[in-house]
Amino acid sequence: MLIKLPRSSDCKSSEITPESFYLSRRKLLGASLAGAALGALPRLGAAAEVSRYADVEAGSAPRWFSDKLGATRWQAVTVNGEAITPFKDATHYNNFYEFGPDKGDPAANAGSLKTEPWSLVVDGEVAKPGRYALEDFVKPYQLEERIYRLRCVEAWSMVIPWLGFPLAEVLKQVEPTSKARYIRFETLEDPKRMPGQRSGFALIDWPYVEGLRLDEAMNPLAILAVGMYGRELPNQNGAPLRLVVPWKYGFKSIKSIVRISLVAEQPATTWQGLAPDEYGFYANVNPTVDHPRWTQARERRLPSGLFSPNVRDTLMFNGYADEVASLYTGLDLRRNY
Ligand code: MTE
Repeated sequence: MLIKLPRSSDCKSSEITPESFYLSRRKLLGASLAGAALGALPRLGAAAEVSRYADVEAGSAPRWFSDKLGATRWQAVTVNGEAITPFKDATHYNNFYEFGPDKGDPAANAGSLKTEPWSLVVDGEVAKPGRYALEDFVKPYQLEERIYRLRCVEAWSMVIPWLGFPLAEVLKQVEPTSKARYIRFETLEDPKRMPGQRSGFALIDWPYVEGLRLDEAMNPLAILAVGMYGRELPNQNGAPLRLVVPWKYGFKSIKSIVRISLVAEQPATTWQGLAPDEYGFYANVNPTVDHPRWTQARERRLPSGLFSPNVRDTLMFNGYADEVASLYTGLDLRRNY
């Protein structure tokens, strides 16, 4: 789907949203640290692990998740000196267009998504393709807590404690063939359970699709997450399984995955297809390459309000340059945005 969109030079932060949705919406209408210091917490049993973060809302974790939680490597990766975003903000200010275009829509509407049972297909250029029940898919992997910055292309950011496992470990299990050069991810397509997919105003050609180069996917920072804040993923954050690629804009971190395919050609991805001048395949966080309608040099760290906007400088590769810059040696990042 190709849409040629007009450019508007300046954009108030309150209006910053991918332009296609900004337009569709117009059609429609006419740090505080969340938890106590982790080290100060008493030793908790598995059932109480959710209280690692003070304001977390307990969910109803599937059995396989509770069973894995006991062996989790807590704080395997963290962000020093930056407050973790309160759970309430991380779960009520979301982008998940399958549930609507506004930031509060996913929390309001994602309850309709039944995530048990859930199955997942791994196919394409792999020696070991398969269809798995989610609990079987995750069985081989130890959960790690990865506290990462999340920087949205819309210029807001958060710090989120994810629970997941390296994507590289999955790739080793399924054994990509020599033809595999990219990895393609697909979200569930189910208009009955995802009201945003029924809306005539949604410009997205469902299902939502994302992709990575194989060497990016093998980078140890790229994870598949099944939880956050010491509990399973809330539906609005992409339950039961999502990608997290912390050096890229948030739209690469695809939610509620049902298919992972190893492919030879660069996959056509959702946002690049919608507005290729604005959203590239790479989508690396880059303060020196502005979005056509706003600067990417700065970001609003949530919670952020009129009287305390909490604006900070955006870091190259979202602060993960030491770990990932070598992936892009020789690549013109201005052209490959
Ligand atoms: N995945 C799907 N399937 N659908 C979406 O609309 N939005 C993306 C990404 N993954 C999206 C998605 C965008 S634009 C962002 S910024 C992040 O999810 C937001 O993740 P969060 O809501 O957990 O903060």
